[in-house]
Amino acid sequence: MSTFDTDIKLVADKTDQYLKSYFSQQKQNNELFEAMGYGLFAGGKKIRSYLTVAAFDLFDIKEETAIAVAAAIECVHSYSLIHDDLPSMDNDDFRRGKESTHKKFGESTAILAGNSLLTIAFEILTSNHLNLDKEVKSDLVFALASCSGHLGIAGGQFLDLSFEGKAQDEKTIIHMQNKKTGELMGFCTEAAAIVAKKNNDREELKKIGLDIGLLFQIADDLLDVYGDQNKLGKPSKQDDKKGKATLIATFGLDKTNVLANELHDKIKQSLEKYGTKANRLLSSAEFILKRDH
Ligand code: IPE
Ligand code: IPE
Ligand code: MG
Ligand code: MG
Ligand code: MG
Repeated sequence: MSTFDTDIKLVADKTDQYLKSYFSQQKQNNELFEAMGYGLFAGGKKIRSYLTVAAFDLFDIKEETAIAVAAAIECVHSYSLIHDDLPSMDNDDFRRGKESTHKKFGESTAILAGNSLLTIAFEILTSNHLNLDKEVKSDLVFALASCSGHLGIAGGQFLDLSFEGKAQDEKTIIHMQNKKTGELMGFCTEAAAIVAKKNNDREELKKIGLDIGLLFQIADDLLDVYGDQNKLGKPSKQDDKKGKATLIATFGLDKTNVLANELHDKIKQSLEKYGTKANRLLSSAEFILKRDH
């Protein structure tokens, strides 16, 4: 395993531990609770957790706080995946190497499990266990709520579905991808400035996360074309079939690869001023560009 692989696995384990402990306090004996855990603890790279921890490095904030924020973010992310796979959305039967939540538990339970994971994120951020000022918590909640709803994930997913079968220009695709994927990654990095009470840095950090998120979605679209679905744990070669509006559909693979490399260079440049404190953010961006899963 590379140093990055070991490091991200360590962060993933800590985030899972935090979530398992949170969930054990709420344990219910019903299928809804089971479906929530199935969608959340199904694995996944935990790249958003890693980005959060990496961004907190910039301000020397203790990792424990970053992990709690990361746990909330992973709940929002897992909710978005459960809903993304639903028959009324991408209609995909496999996720994280096993049956999608709706295949296993039925559609209504999957919808409710997604809703419950979304709201648990805000419980975590406002819980007494998280030792942060009320004002900081309120800023975190506001920012995470904005990037989860119609201004973020839900809005981006709406555009993604409404663009199916219709060619779009570069600007429109990037706007859609920023919303569906970039905004949440923007929150991962902005959260560090919120917790550090560095209000003047919030916008800049949010922008870095947005660019990392856009790169992540472009890489996801490239992997849909030439990724190995066993490694990905989800079906590949779906976007073209569904007529998804991606940069690949508009420009082809070569130009999309060039755009991804240019975006990676831009991210590297914007992190230069942070020196070695940005090492983990830099390795995240490199992983995202070169990833095969
Ligand atoms: C998949 O996200 C959805 C996109 C935003 C492209 P990930 O690739 O991070 O999914 P997991 O968490 O590792 O399963
Ligand atoms: C999903 O994008 C983005 C989300 C916000 C869930 P995709 O639909 O491309 O994600 P995958 O490929 O199914 O993971
Ligand atoms: Mg989708
Ligand atoms: Mg999908
Ligand atoms: Mg995809």
